[in-house]
Amino acid sequence: MLKIGHRGAAAYAPENTLTSFRRAVELGADGVEFDLHRARDGTFVVLHDDTVDRTTDGHGKVEALTVAELRRFDAGSWKGREFAGERIPTFDEVIAAVPQRILLFAELKDGSARSPGIEDALARFIRERGVVERVRVSSFDHRALARLRPLVPDLETGALFTGLPVDLVALARNAAAQAVHPSFHYLTREAVEEAHRAGLAVNAWTVNEPEDIEAVRGMGVDGIFSDHPDRLR
Ligand code: G3P
Ligand code: MG
Repeated sequence: MLKIGHRGAAAYAPENTLTSFRRAVELGADGVEFDLHRARDGTFVVLHDDTVDRTTDGHGKVEALTVAELRRFDAGSWKGREFAGERIPTFDEVIAAVPQRILLFAELKDGSARSPGIEDALARFIRERGVVERVRVSSFDHRALARLRPLVPDLETGALFTGLPVDLVALARNAAAQAVHPSFHYLTREAVEEAHRAGLAVNAWTVNEPEDIEAVRGMGVDGIFSDHPDRLR
C-alpha cells in the first residue's frame, strides 16, 4: 500500500512547502501529494487555496500574482517561527527537491472551466520535464482529467470525489482515470472491491487517526493520503 504524504507532511511542517515534502520522505512516504495552481505568468505553483491569505503573510488571489510576487511571501511562519522564510514552491522545485523514487501526486485545483487552457499547459509541462512516470494527476474536476487523457496518454490520473457514488467505475471511466481518490469517510470494502474488479486503483484521503488508518487499510486500498505519513508504516 502506497504511503502518501498529504501536502507533504502537513501535520509537522507548513503544508505544500519543500520542507514539508522533504519531511514526508524522511518519514517513509512513497509519494507526496500537493496542490497545483497557475500564477499570473503561467508558472505552476504549489499551494492549496485560491488565495495566499491563509498560508502566507501575503494577500490576494494566486492567479492575480506573478511567481516573482508570490515568492516574496513567507509561507512558513503561520505554522511556526522555525519555518520562517519558507516559500511557495514551484512545481519544478518540488520535482527537484524529492528523490526520483518518490511519486508526485499533483492535484490540479482548477480545470479549463476556471483556468482556460490549463490542461494543455500541464500536459506540456509534464512532457517537457520527462516526468510522466513520476507524476500522477488528480482532480475534483473530472472534465480536466478527461481533457488531459489524449494529451498525455500514458499519464496515470485519479478522479477525486467526496461521498459514495452509485457507480464509481463509471465515474472513473467518464474521467478516463486509472484510479479513484475517494474521501475515506464514505468508503466501503465493497466499493474498493468494485473498483479493483474494474482494474482501478483506490487511493483514499485524508486519513490521520490511527484507528481510521487501520480500518481503511483493512478495506484493501492501494494508497492512503495522510498528514502523518509516519503513521502509515
Ligand atoms: O488529494 C486528496 C486531497 O488533497 C483532496 O482534498 O482539499 O486536501 O486538496 P484537499
Ligand atoms: Mg489536495
